Amino acid sequence: MTEQLYVQRDQPEGVPPLHLTGERTLPDVPEENYWYRRHLVVYEWIAERTHGRRVVDLACGEGYGSAVLGRTAASVVGVDANPEAHEHARLRYQRSNLRFERDLAESFSEPCDAVVFLQTIEHVQDPGAILAHFKSMLEPGGVAYVSTPNLLTLAPPGAEKSDNPWHVKEYRADEFRALCEQHFERVEMLGLFHARKLRAHELAIKLGWDSVHKRLGLTKAFYDRFTPAIATSDFRLKPGNLDAALDFLAVCAGELPSRSLAYLDPPYFVMGQRKLYANYYRAEDHAAVAEALEGCPWPWIVSYDDAPEIIQLYRGHGQLTYGIDYSAASRYEGSEVMFFSPELTIPRIADPLPSLHGAA
Ligand SMILES: C[S@@+](CC[C@H](N)C(=O)[O-])C[C@H]1O[C@@H](n2cnc3c(N)ncnc32)[C@H](O)[C@@H]1O
Repeated sequence: MTEQLYVQRDQPEGVPPLHLTGERTLPDVPEENYWYRRHLVVYEWIAERTHGRRVVDLACGEGYGSAVLGRTAASVVGVDANPEAHEHARLRYQRSNLRFERDLAESFSEPCDAVVFLQTIEHVQDPGAILAHFKSMLEPGGVAYVSTPNLLTLAPPGAEKSDNPWHVKEYRADEFRALCEQHFERVEMLGLFHARKLRAHELAIKLGWDSVHKRLGLTKAFYDRFTPAIATSDFRLKPGNLDAALDFLAVCAGELPSRSLAYLDPPYFVMGQRKLYANYYRAEDHAAVAEALEGCPWPWIVSYDDAPEIIQLYRGHGQLTYGIDYSAASRYEGSEVMFFSPELTIPRIADPLPSLHGAA
């Protein structure tokens, strides 16, 4: 009975439906929708950043994520060791830039611009060796995207691991970062968090919702509607407070070439009044950017709105002020300023944006 319940529904003709075994998430199983969306949102985020790239999706599972990556990438190879998952993926997701291979993540090798390895590093015996292998596959400038659940929010308090039998080891944020930093020079860690209706549900649970729905006998009726309605927009991927995250995503890259230039365009200082951004930096965030640039190993340029507070923050640095047209909430003209690190020579030009201002 349970077997029949947790099987994929309505698959295209000739595509064998997969059963939920706990080893991989699946689309088209309404009861599984929370986990499916929780994984899918990360694939969508990566697809936004891999336009035109050659992508290898290792341990691709059912194949839905490789198909999402295929919407923007130049090419995608989805690799999984499991024969049923591989056969399903191959038959279900067909596009000219997408192929599936049955292989181990440890042994499959193909030069690429991005390696994607989501929710599987916790399944492998030698995670260090697998990260070293990913690095060897990446072309210069390539990026590995590796995600894993947060031990602190997955397992019971104090436990070393959840009861998921497929997981060999679950990580805390600092452990996972340290593991990735052993193999990649640049690692950015993001956390996945509940948003919108999942955040509201989380707050309701803190207020005692669990005992209310049980007492009223509403549990099944409520969750039969709530779970299938969960969307990827009910999750958010962002930096900060990683110990509270559901999952971590490490964005791992090698060293930048020695002749690199850093260009930053942070949110404007004077944005609140003009409603140019939904999210904006506070004064201390701007100060943190300026401080970080002091230790930047490459020449840098940063551009801002021409605000006295920002001029003060970058006093002592070369600067160039210029006019610009904006068109966001409302159209108006203002001036921007660029600041330069000491080793850069400021160009002697009247208008750094001539094409915007109608000049040839
Ligand atoms: C939790 S699922 C993740 C699937 C997919 N990346 C996602 O995020 O939905 C783990 C998948 O890894 C595959 N797998 C586990 N160890 C593997 C290995 N060493 N090489 C290739 N695939 C592996 C399993 O068959 C399973 O499909």
